[in-house]
Amino acid sequence: MERIKQHAIWGHRGTFVLAATGSAVGLGNIWKFPYIAGENGGGAFVLMYLVFIALIGVPVMIAEVLLGRHGRANPIHAVGKMVRQSGASRFWSAIGWSGVLAAFLILSFYSVVAGWALDYVSTAARGGFGGWDGASAGAAFDALLADPWRLMFWQTLFIGLTVVVVAFGVTKGLETAVRLLMPLLFVLLLLLLAYAAVAGEFVRGLAFMFSFNPADLSWKAASVAMGHAFFTLSLAMGAIMAYGSYMPGKASIGKMVLTVAVLDTLVALVAGLAMFPIVFATPGITAGEGPGLMFVSLPVAFGNMPAGALFGVAFFVLVTLAAWSSTISLLEPCVAYVTERFGIKRLTANGLIAGSAWLLGLGSVLSFNAWADVSWLLGMNIFDFLDFFTQRVMLPLGGLLMALFVGWVARRDLLQHELKVEGGVLFGSWLWLLRIVCPVALLAILLAGVWAQFAS
Ligand code: PHE
Repeated sequence: MERIKQHAIWGHRGTFVLAATGSAVGLGNIWKFPYIAGENGGGAFVLMYLVFIALIGVPVMIAEVLLGRHGRANPIHAVGKMVRQSGASRFWSAIGWSGVLAAFLILSFYSVVAGWALDYVSTAARGGFGGWDGASAGAAFDALLADPWRLMFWQTLFIGLTVVVVAFGVTKGLETAVRLLMPLLFVLLLLLLAYAAVAGEFVRGLAFMFSFNPADLSWKAASVAMGHAFFTLSLAMGAIMAYGSYMPGKASIGKMVLTVAVLDTLVALVAGLAMFPIVFATPGITAGEGPGLMFVSLPVAFGNMPAGALFGVAFFVLVTLAAWSSTISLLEPCVAYVTERFGIKRLTANGLIAGSAWLLGLGSVLSFNAWADVSWLLGMNIFDFLDFFTQRVMLPLGGLLMALFVGWVARRDLLQHELKVEGGVLFGSWLWLLRIVCPVALLAILLAGVWAQFAS
């Protein structure tokens, strides 16, 4: 006879921080942040990004963790519980649903991109970057994208890695994985930073990232920075809520969330500081390279630098680990929901969900070659549509609803109980940010994102 299983709790005090940082630190920090900073002017962008992390990211993250821990269940049931206890309309349950659905959709295409990093590990390990120039690096990247079998191979391997961890469950799987992966990730990152300092144009990299020129402040840069602040903290996708639901009751949510936000930001900044000096040291490639910065410019740089083969491998292993700890956090909320809702075994739920995400991911694989020009929805191919819909629509919308629900609708005494406060300035400021500042900002991100898509 199957007993009804209790919702798991992390076995160590610091696991939430490691796991949530693992979720937060991903392709967003290492791939996206440096290139969008590069495209949007550097220092001014970085400054806006920091402000948005503090004023919007942190308050919403506290709200999300709070909902998870209060509910002690998967995101859908956790939000449902707060909705019921607050006597609120069932409409608000959409927050949980949208989170789990977004996690599933992102998992499908994030694994494809993460697969590219695995492919680059293998290329680098075979000494493949040696003597690359801009043209050959561009051609190599295009050749990878043009080959659906190769993409599928790495995507399958990557989802497989994720499934193995999630299969072992919260404490034996996720907890063990993040306790091993995260320290390794930090060590690799510091190693690469040291390499950039020694072998690269470090001062130029530093100046690029931190020199502030007011002329670079623009609405467009602000909306990109705001959207990214949200994405990089893994907000509104069920991931952070699920991890919060495993947090021991005694832990302080505020402190833990602040630590995660600081670590995530540090990783993004250090990733930039590890990449730009190398890029600047190589003639012919620029900082405003766009999405190709990591897959085109960087291999060229590694290919032409002393010990570049070794550090090239280290770099792409780092990217793989970062992406791995993120996909784990995308699969987990879906698996938690299906096991808790339907009472089926974790292993079965895991297989079903990961299998479906893999299948949907094939649509993204083909979006880079055979189906590149097939428009599925709103004139976009599958990858572009999923990327747009999850990041530009579901993410800000989910965050908006969450801020409004926790700020205005949820029972105040339950919030205070979970945060262990009885009011006070900190609580008051948090609530104020959540009620007014976050909704306005998130609405702006939503409108700007949708506008940018259709105006172009
Ligand atoms: N925060 C991750 C990154 O920066 C992406 C992510 C979003 C991961 C949502 C999990 C959940 O890459």
